[in-house]
Amino acid sequence: MTFKTLDGLDVAGKRVLLRADLNVPVRDGHITDLTRIERLCPTIRELSEKGAKVVVCSHFDRPKGKRVPEMSLAPMAVALGKVLDRRVAFADDCIGAPAEATIAAMANGDIAVLENTRFHAGEEANDPAFAAQLAALCDIFVNDAFSAAHRAHASTEGVAHLRPAYAGRLMQAELEALGAALLHPDRPVMAVVGGAKVSTKIDLLGNLVGRVQVLVIGGAMANTFLAAQGVGVGRSLQEAEMHATALAILAKARAAGCEVMLPVDAVIATEFKPNPPIQTVAVGAVPGDAMILDIGPASAAALVAKVATMKTLVWNGPLGAFETPPFDAATMALAHAVADATQAGRLRSVAGGGDTVAALRQAGVMEKMSYVSSAGGAFLEWMEGKVLPGVAALG
Ligand code: 3PG
Ligand code: MG
Repeated sequence: MTFKTLDGLDVAGKRVLLRADLNVPVRDGHITDLTRIERLCPTIRELSEKGAKVVVCSHFDRPKGKRVPEMSLAPMAVALGKVLDRRVAFADDCIGAPAEATIAAMANGDIAVLENTRFHAGEEANDPAFAAQLAALCDIFVNDAFSAAHRAHASTEGVAHLRPAYAGRLMQAELEALGAALLHPDRPVMAVVGGAKVSTKIDLLGNLVGRVQVLVIGGAMANTFLAAQGVGVGRSLQEAEMHATALAILAKARAAGCEVMLPVDAVIATEFKPNPPIQTVAVGAVPGDAMILDIGPASAAALVAKVATMKTLVWNGPLGAFETPPFDAATMALAHAVADATQAGRLRSVAGGGDTVAALRQAGVMEKMSYVSSAGGAFLEWMEGKVLPGVAALG
């Protein structure tokens, strides 16, 4: 993992194309979470203060190579201007005359946002001609979009080969934090993997059992592992077609000396709704008409005790149906234990993925983790041990 940072880079008077991830959550035309925009600002400020013309490009949503007005980046340019408290220009195309005219009008230190790169089919196709049109706009390429680095697209990969390419401060922070969690961590390392499906996390689990000392499996995924071993899980969410895969992952863990922690008890209900009648039972005692909706208190206590013996923890996926009370209990208990150990200086903790971030926010511990990644899919692929094309292109 080698990449050049902005340290010592002379950008004065240069046109810098900054690949950002402005793919922010939007509901009813309003941006609901500014995290990605806020995290981009240090790089923009640094480049601007050093006298660059900062030209920001990004995708938003999935317009599939066509101009879709609802998927314009214009509102993100406005939001960026507000967060920076600076004037931010907007070009209504990311290549060609509109982009060129906007950039030609910029003074050193100015900031502009280009329209959605995915309005052009060449973006996702990583078309060399489209990448060349992006490169024509700049002297230097800076990639700050770790969360889009799993895509080998023209603005994340192709253009990086056509201009001197650097990691922005957010990209750098992500790579340093993630490297410290899995590539060269202080041991022992615990990985917590939750969420609904084994099928979406096979590669992740397969990579982790060879790297970490303790693997915690929670969420509905745990039901699949329990059922695969012949434990009755009633009407719980599980994937019958994944039983063989689950057993293979357990065998691989045993061979690698990785301890797998599955729930020993469960919080169950017969209806999935807020605050229904619940029961706590040992795994193996789930009635046929019941659903496991959270790991139980004994399981959560075992995890909390284990965290106290760990030096590094990496977390992707909630332990239960945390959006629906009281099935957030185990996830909240673990979040607080991890936050406390981190704040006490005993643990390095790194988390990522949309649901995980929502759960940490719900627990109020976002600022108490060592690092919370802004990435979803890219964080997952990175945990799977995959080379991210957008990162490799900076090497
Ligand atoms: C994300 O939000 O995961 C990134 O911006 C990538 O978006 P994509 O999944 O549409 O490629
Ligand atoms: Mg995605």
